[in-house]
Amino acid sequence: MKPAEYEALDAGVVAAALGGLAGAFALEVLPECDSTNTRLLENPPPEDGRIAVLAADRQTAGRGRRGRAWQSWPGASLTFSLQWRFAPAGSVPAGLSLVVGLAVARALEGLGVEGVQLKWPNDVLVHGRKLAGILVELVSARGRPEAAVIGIGINLRLPPEAAVDYPTGVTDLAACLGPAPGPSLLLGRVLTQLHGLLELFAAAGFPALREAWQQRNAFADLPVRILGEGGQLAGTCAGVDEDGALLLRTPTGLSRVLSGDVSLRLA
Ligand code: BTN
Repeated sequence: MKPAEYEALDAGVVAAALGGLAGAFALEVLPECDSTNTRLLENPPPEDGRIAVLAADRQTAGRGRRGRAWQSWPGASLTFSLQWRFAPAGSVPAGLSLVVGLAVARALEGLGVEGVQLKWPNDVLVHGRKLAGILVELVSARGRPEAAVIGIGINLRLPPEAAVDYPTGVTDLAACLGPAPGPSLLLGRVLTQLHGLLELFAAAGFPALREAWQQRNAFADLPVRILGEGGQLAGTCAGVDEDGALLLRTPTGLSRVLSGDVSLRLA
């Protein structure tokens, strides 16, 4: 069968979308790789003051949270990763993955997508269905976290045969916007938001962005369950605290859930 036609990533179009910010990024575009996260983890980019970004038209071994795969079909999703360095001698700033979700949400809103919400810790939903996923992995040197590799996948046009397992279903940009922007413009818009929000986050921490996250909280005041290796916890979603931890109102009081290998579900 002839492969579906799709618009390939174009570094020039990404740079044009970034405008004056283009010089802040060292962007590499590949037609194919196993996983952009794996590439940046295994081949750390040299430090030259710019934010290294690796984007691929297609991943052959894309990875998701909790050991799952991020599936790939030609033109189905925008897949890219960036390396973000922590301040020297600093610790891993709390709330990083939530800030990344917020940046994706703001970029989508700026393109006219309605009904964008965030599911803790960092899935991006549109009217309850998953549009984008985020995988943050830490890079350590001499026993100290030095940087994060932040991987983002945004569904552009899922093929009819795509059977992606997600409790509330998945969606793609083509279903949310008509006509939908190409992958290069979308990448430029997301990088623009990431640049602004990560700078603010580095200077002021998650408290500066907490309210913006809560405004988009998909499960605010709803009954939820947290599923993890240690069992499950049920309660009402009471938002997130200043560290980005999820707050659950339970019969015995307020419980705090730190982002980890857990899954959040509507009860
Ligand atoms: C999730 O929702 O489980 C996270 C999905 C993250 C997918 C992106 S695609 C670009 C980057 N490379 C990967 O292998 N994974 C992330």
